[in-house]
Amino acid sequence: LQETTCAMIKPDAMCAAGKIIECILSNGLLIKHMRMCQLSRKEAEEFYQVHKGKPFYEALILLVSSGPVIAMELVGENALCRWRFLLGPTSTEVARIKAPSSIRAQYGSDTTRNACHGSDTHENARIETLFFFKCWNMGMCARFR
Ligand code: CMP
Repeated sequence: LQETTCAMIKPDAMCAAGKIIECILSNGLLIKHMRMCQLSRKEAEEFYQVHKGKPFYEALILLVSSGPVIAMELVGENALCRWRFLLGPTSTEVARIKAPSSIRAQYGSDTTRNACHGSDTHENARIETLFFFKCWNMGMCARFR
């Protein structure tokens, strides 16, 4: 089943962006769209609205709006689960024990600065890819197709 998911390299792992992109491609996922941008606080709040009110929310918003990110729409068979498997557990500490070769184990720093984001459900994947790639997916940016 071909599906798409949303991936984001967070500011804390931009120095490892090349290695992370290599990991995505060498594991058979395709990058349908990719863009680098810096999210304003308001945009970061919109992207992470499902986490509003949680204890880590403020730290998360500060992190993702602190510098450039790379957003990608990934395509492949079971892309959502496969990207989350490559990421490893949310907590870098847990990832280092349970999945030492995962992206978060290698490039993350702690539970908030955990290198990359991956959509957790298909519904969120749709919402998140629209957030970053609305005009691309609506065919309004012919030059980028
Ligand atoms: P991400 O996959 O981007 O989705 C939500 C983010 O919130 C998560 O990665 C972490 O950066 C952060 N996060 C989730 N749980 C915690 C937690 N328990 N403590 C701190 N940050 C968290």
